[in-house]
Amino acid sequence: MNSIMESITSDFSYYLKTFNLYLDRTNDHVHMAKFNAEYLPDIVASIGKEGSSSLNVLGVGSGSGKTDLEILGKIQCKHPGLSIQNEVVEPNPEQISSYKAFVKEKSQSLNISFTWNQMTSEEYEKKAKERNEVKKFDFIHMIHMLYYVESVQDSIKYFHNLLETNGKLLIVTVSDGGGWQSLWKTFGSRFINSCVYLDVCKILDDMSINYQIYEVSADLDITECFIEGNEKGELLLDFLTHIINFRKTAPPDLKAEVLQYLLQTPYSREENGKIIFNNNSQTIVVDY
Ligand SMILES: C[S@@+](CC[C@H](N)C(=O)[O-])C[C@H]1O[C@@H](n2cnc3c(N)ncnc32)[C@H](O)[C@@H]1O
Repeated sequence: MNSIMESITSDFSYYLKTFNLYLDRTNDHVHMAKFNAEYLPDIVASIGKEGSSSLNVLGVGSGSGKTDLEILGKIQCKHPGLSIQNEVVEPNPEQISSYKAFVKEKSQSLNISFTWNQMTSEEYEKKAKERNEVKKFDFIHMIHMLYYVESVQDSIKYFHNLLETNGKLLIVTVSDGGGWQSLWKTFGSRFINSCVYLDVCKILDDMSINYQIYEVSADLDITECFIEGNEKGELLLDFLTHIINFRKTAPPDLKAEVLQYLLQTPYSREENGKIIFNNNSQTIVVDY
């Protein structure tokens, strides 16, 4: 039965369907917006090369751009006199279309130009190297996307090297010690790929790169995952495991263990009849 398990990352539309449901069931974006309001202005205050009239920003794995536009808004507020050139690297065509529609709707008031790269970060790196081009950026962000790159270490190294003087690299991943990290540490080797379990801080430490770390707490309502036959619950379970039709295609022992694990403290709690999973994330800010 194991042989027919398939990763949600093999199908852009399926991935997006599960990811959008996940977004509906978490308050992560609320806490992320709070982080952006409270901390981001200070973080971006010092970016920008002296004498430059514009800022270059790069979003890697931007998704639909909701968080990107929030970030761009904060940068613009801190640097009102400067124009912003924003590059987007995102492989999913549906996400790029959503992002473009969102830009049309929201960014008229902002002095921002957009360059779209519908490709993976590895393809972006390869293309830049082929063109012998080293474009530098004042701010680069990689939000919940490092799980999907071929080599986390190589990606961090490449994008860190693209930072302009005074530039900053912002990385968001699931929290070390949070629910996701624990689930994937326990079961990653039995899922199809072990992408969600990564230790970015160790990688940065090994590379002797300085960083600051901020914990952002969030919840994920996983109640529906325990209602057999509930379509939304199945999709959410698929996103948690990154396996298409997990309930139907996973070996019975794995399915039973995962469902049991998702109920356990300290990563889950019951609240008002709901089962709430720890969805904490960490924001890591790396200096030039
Ligand atoms: C979990 S979503 C996060 C999207 C967005 N940053 C957010 O926080 O809402 C991960 C995103 O990374 C993109 N992605 C997957 N593999 C990638 C790669 N190798 N390079 C760049 N982006 C990738 C996916 O298409 C998806 O939009």
